[in-house]
Amino acid sequence: MLKLLSKVKGTLVGIVFLAGLGLTGCAESPSTLDPRGFGADQIAVLWWVIFGLATVVFVAVVGVLLYALFRSRSGEHEEKLAESTFDKRFVIGGAILTVIILVIAYLFTLQTMSVLASVDPSDEYVVEVIGHQWWWEVKYPNQQVITANEIHIPVGQPVQLQVMSADVIHSFWVPELHGKIDMIPGQVNTFWLEADEAGVYYGLCAEFCGTQHAKMLLVVVAEPADAFTTWLSDQAEPAQAVTDAPLVSGKEVFTQGGCANCHTIRGTEATGNLGPDLTHLASRRTLAAGILENNRGNLGGWIVNPQQLKPGNKMPPTSLSGTELQDLLAYLQSLQ
Ligand code: CUA
Repeated sequence: MLKLLSKVKGTLVGIVFLAGLGLTGCAESPSTLDPRGFGADQIAVLWWVIFGLATVVFVAVVGVLLYALFRSRSGEHEEKLAESTFDKRFVIGGAILTVIILVIAYLFTLQTMSVLASVDPSDEYVVEVIGHQWWWEVKYPNQQVITANEIHIPVGQPVQLQVMSADVIHSFWVPELHGKIDMIPGQVNTFWLEADEAGVYYGLCAEFCGTQHAKMLLVVVAEPADAFTTWLSDQAEPAQAVTDAPLVSGKEVFTQGGCANCHTIRGTEATGNLGPDLTHLASRRTLAAGILENNRGNLGGWIVNPQQLKPGNKMPPTSLSGTELQDLLAYLQSLQ
C-alpha cells in the first residue's frame, strides 16, 4: 500500500514537473489564451469551456479509479457486487453522461463558429496575404501597396484578409487576434483580423511547409486610424530619388548587381518579382520574415550570407567589396 502511494506521488510530481517545463517554453510566445481581439476572445472562451469539461471528466475518472484501487476487498463485498445491478447502471449512466458532455462541447463549438462567421468586415482595406517559402507577401490592392512580412491594420475594426499561396500549403496564424486559416495554392480563402488595442502582434506559419517553416514569422501592427492611413499612403509612394554619393552608388550596386533580378524597388529599374518588394524596406521592423531585427548589422549579414541564417531559402550569397556593401546598406536603409 505504501509502495503504491509513493508510486502515485512520484508520478504526480513527474507530471507537474513536465507541465512546468512545457509552460516555460511558452513564456515568450504569443498565446491564444491572451486574446487581444474579438476573434481570439471567442476562441479563448471556447477553449476554457472545453478545458473545464475535460477537467471535470479527468477528476471524475481519476476519482473512480482511486476508489476502485483502494476500496475494501472482502469476499462478502465481492459476492454482494456480483448480485447487484450497480455495474450495469454505472455503465449506462457513464455512456449517457459522455454523450451529454460531447453534445455540450459540440454546441459551444457551433455557437463560436457562427459568431465568428457573422462578422462582416468592410472591404475598404482588403489585405491580400500570399504565402511563399518562407515569407509573406502583403498587398493592399485598393491602395496599390505591396510590402512583406508586416501587416498594418486600423485598431478596433475588422479588416478583410484574402489569403493564398504561391507554392505549398501554409497557414496564417496570429494567436492573439484570431484562429488559423490555411493558405492553399490555387485557392483564395477569406478571413479577417481585428485588434482591440493598438500594439504589435506576432504571427507565424502554422502548417509545415519545408525546412524553414519555423522561420516564417510575421508582424501585425494595429494602430489608430490616422496613423494607419498615413502608413498606407507612405507605402503607396515609390522610393524617393537619391542624390547623395554613397546612396547613388548603393542604388547602382542594387540595380546593376544581382539584387534587381529578384526584388522590386518601385521608382527604380529594379523590377524582379521572386523575392519581397523592398520599396520601403527600412520602414519594416524585421528582416527575413520576422527572424531578425531590421538593423544595419543584421541586414549586412543577411545580404552577405542568407544561407547561413536560413538554409535553403531562395536568396543566394552575395559577394561584394567592403565599399559596395556599405553603400548598398546605406541605400537600403534610406528606403523609409
Ligand atoms: Cu509556411 Cu510553414
